[in-house]
Amino acid sequence: MATSQQPDGQSGTIFSAETYFATQPPPPSLEQDVSRVKDFLQRQLKDGRKVVLVTSGGTTVPLELNVVRFLDNFSAGTRGATSAEYFLKAGYAVIFMHRQFSLQPFSRHYSHSTHPFLDFLEIEESSPKSSTSGPSSRINVRPSEEPHLLEVLSTYKAVQRAGTLLTLNFVTVNDYLWLLRAVSQEMSLLGRHCLYYLAAAVSDFFLPRQKMSVHKIQSGKGSLHIEMDQVPKILKPLVAEWTREGFIVSFKLETDPDLLIPKACQALARYGHQVVIGNDLHRRKFEVVFVSPKASAESKPSGYEESWLRIDLNKNPQKEIEEDIVAELVGRHERWIRDAIVTVRT
Ligand code: PMT
Repeated sequence: MATSQQPDGQSGTIFSAETYFATQPPPPSLEQDVSRVKDFLQRQLKDGRKVVLVTSGGTTVPLELNVVRFLDNFSAGTRGATSAEYFLKAGYAVIFMHRQFSLQPFSRHYSHSTHPFLDFLEIEESSPKSSTSGPSSRINVRPSEEPHLLEVLSTYKAVQRAGTLLTLNFVTVNDYLWLLRAVSQEMSLLGRHCLYYLAAAVSDFFLPRQKMSVHKIQSGKGSLHIEMDQVPKILKPLVAEWTREGFIVSFKLETDPDLLIPKACQALARYGHQVVIGNDLHRRKFEVVFVSPKASAESKPSGYEESWLRIDLNKNPQKEIEEDIVAELVGRHERWIRDAIVTVRT
């Protein structure tokens, strides 16, 4: 393994965002992605649309420069991909920043693991006499699948025609951090008309480039010891510097339900953003909690309030909790925009 020093000469460094971006290289596709984001935002601005950035899926931490092994963060991308569809339905333009190969809006309905698309296609063999030239068989969609496919496909095509969905992807936590910074800086030009929905599961620890082995780490020397550094808490500069007026929603995933509320309050106190959505790993498909600062008469926060959102999957197994999460946030975002207008007028 490369044994170069930490950038600031310490070990077990906690990188500030500034040090991080000064020492870790940007992904090669960054410039091109930023230019796509700029064009997209210009179009949405012209059409007067609100824009939401949805981050989705887990980031990886490569252990080698020629990467064979990496650590991964849990997330299939269901929350992000599903929510993106409901934001589009609510009239938002969506920048969908997701882990490569994780679930995406629309195509998620036909994921290879839960609903493989080959399984709902049928081959219709034509009789040998009728096929003088060309293919002798046709592909049909199984009739029972057709209504749902038609609905998904027509919404997807309408979104494509409207140009309201931009997809960007990341793999490593480094890609994610650079992309999040660049996109949020561009989005800040929309002022309060932008919403951040940070559903991605982001690595807390990483291996700086300067400490990474160039080649595959060799086995045969007993156990492997790797010291990782802490990833900067990116919500801090996001809120305080990159996008001061955006409505920012972060997520908190816990496996101990008793930690959800305290951890959510801690995040709000630390970063000063608008909402934390807490979810328990095993209950996340039917229960979440919104934690937000309690507004006082002087419009300064005085403590935090929680509100639980639950759906009954026994009564309605097709229901997606993201529909209600997005509806709640659209209302809160609307009030956030209105409050600014009132504050400016008074
Ligand atoms: O995709 P699914 O399988 O449906 O799962 C969805 C989910 C459970 C992953 C999702 O709902 C969720 O909870 N995502 C956040 C997971 C989490 O707890 O992340 P975190 O503790 O690493 O980060 C908390 C928040 O800060 C997140 O909004 C994260 O995007 C953001 N963060 C974290 C670290 C960091 N360096 N920068 C960040 O922006």
